[in-house]
Amino acid sequence: MKGPLKIAMFGSQGSGKGTQAEMLAKKYNLPVLSTGEVLRTEIKNKTELGKLADALINKGQLVPDESINGIVLGEISTPKYQSGFILDGYPRNMNQLEVLEKDIGLDLVILLEIKDEEVQERLASRRVCSKCGAIYNVLNKPPRQNGICDVCEGHLVTRDDDQPEAIAKRLQIYHTETEPLINYYEKRGKLIKVNGIGTIEKIFENIVEEIEKKN
Ligand code: AP5
Ligand code: MG
Repeated sequence: MKGPLKIAMFGSQGSGKGTQAEMLAKKYNLPVLSTGEVLRTEIKNKTELGKLADALINKGQLVPDESINGIVLGEISTPKYQSGFILDGYPRNMNQLEVLEKDIGLDLVILLEIKDEEVQERLASRRVCSKCGAIYNVLNKPPRQNGICDVCEGHLVTRDDDQPEAIAKRLQIYHTETEPLINYYEKRGKLIKVNGIGTIEKIFENIVEEIEKKN
């Protein structure tokens, strides 16, 4: 592996961005910055941003760019992210892409491809740790002990936005606002496309193989 790696995970809701980001972070010793996780923490802490984000996230809508851009640029400039990072959930529209590419810029974008029909089932069976955010699935990736996080023993919960109506809205926004960004990175030779259907381990292997080829 040469030099710092600045990666972003792309893909629709439930495509496995968070799952694969956790695994890549361990392999390459990179910090993950998940804007969804940051917002869920703000909601838990009942901050001003948390109050604003709560209503929007539950309806499946995006949180305003000014807030998100500020969070990401602020975080990324701290020492933790100087040797590379994995972004999960950012950039999500053209404005966010322009802000990120202006001063920072990505090396690789990993796109996990799955069809909308697969999403509802995956998200209905997802559980996340209310304490550390670790991701589980009662069908595909159950915790060792029912309802308890393997990592920190926190309680596993269903995400508030994993309801059919919010999922439909999130998918619609993904197709209209986020999907067009793929073209930007593809044109610049920075895109890695991976089939998001298959076992979590096999998909991980495929991603690593593609990263090694590019780097
Ligand atoms: P965010 O938290 O980013 O949610 P999302 O984009 O909707 O994506 P998900 O987290 O639902 O899916 P994922 O791809 O991470 O899948 P996972 O790995 O969990 O954003 C939430 C909200 O925050 C947004 O809607 C918006 O309101 C706001 N927000 C965030 N970023 C923003 C931004 N930049 N600008 C504005 N607003 C923003 O996997 C899903 C499930 O499938 C899990 O149960 C997992 O175990 C399972 N699974 C994973 N891989 C497999 C596999 N290969 N086979 C079977 N099951 C699998
Ligand atoms: Mg996620």
